[in-house]
Amino acid sequence: MTTSRKVAVITGSHKGLGLAIACKLAQQDDIWVIITSRKEADCQATEQRLKAEGIEVDCHQLDVTDPNSVNDFMDWVTSAYGRVDILVNNAGVNPSQVAEEASILTAKAETMLDTFNTNAIGALRMCQAVIPLMKQRGYGRIVNVSTEMASLQQIPQDFYPPAPAYRMSKVGLNAMTTMLAKELKDTNILVNNYSPGWMKTDIGGEDAPYTTDEGAETAIYLATLLDGASQGGFFAEMRKFGGAVVLPW
Ligand SMILES: NC(=O)c1ccc[n+]([C@@H]2O[C@H](COP(=O)([O-])OP(=O)(O)OC[C@H]3O[C@@H](n4cnc5c(N)ncnc54)[C@H](OP(=O)(O)O)[C@@H]3O)[C@@H](O)[C@H]2O)c1
Repeated sequence: MTTSRKVAVITGSHKGLGLAIACKLAQQDDIWVIITSRKEADCQATEQRLKAEGIEVDCHQLDVTDPNSVNDFMDWVTSAYGRVDILVNNAGVNPSQVAEEASILTAKAETMLDTFNTNAIGALRMCQAVIPLMKQRGYGRIVNVSTEMASLQQIPQDFYPPAPAYRMSKVGLNAMTTMLAKELKDTNILVNNYSPGWMKTDIGGEDAPYTTDEGAETAIYLATLLDGASQGGFFAEMRKFGGAVVLPW
């Protein structure tokens, strides 16, 4: 299958924030969305459900912690579409329910490593995989889903929940964004970070005040930036400030 539309890949997008971002991007005429999930059956079921609602997307299995899965995905997307124009690194885990995560003094290395592998290294794997394709076409937008909880300036003020594995892995993601932005500064590949706010999802829980549609708003803004726009920023949710506002790292 080929398309003249921009191809957008959203990791972890059969539910939660990723699904909301996918739906909003799919409603733009010039964007073709690929939703992905660790289990093939999950994204296929979501593709069918969206189709019934009149939203056309494609779907494929993708586990960002598994290099073979990333390679298989890239082989498929390259042969099916020959392009990836937009990447949203949304896949994430937050093991804050684990008792040891209540303090940095008890946090376990295994939990840290697993969390880093998804939240930071998984995103880097995807960037390293898609940036060569983006360079070929001279266009790319990469949106990394982070959290205000990973702002080093805010951690001393906002220390609940401690969630050391989650916070430290997202600090790693933030660092990756600034390093990529520096390396890509003379290209039309714009890499940015954002914090979606506290949303009702499996990670956020039922008490969260915001919906995934609200959390998706800034992702859409960053995924569709005009040429020459922001590079290497850490954005707050636009809802909170009524527009694009950068956060302290
Ligand atoms: N909810 C909040 O309040 C909040 C606040 C700030 C930031 N965020 C960020 O928003 C992003 C989305 O989270 P969410 O709140 O929408 O939670 P969610 O509903 O649990 O979604 C997380 C998604 O990540 C996927 N995922 C996890 N590990 C993966 C892997 N190894 N490879 C590919 N996909 C993987 C999950 O897939 P499976 O279904 O297969 O597990 C799921 O689709 C995360 O990066 C999170 O850190 C959320």
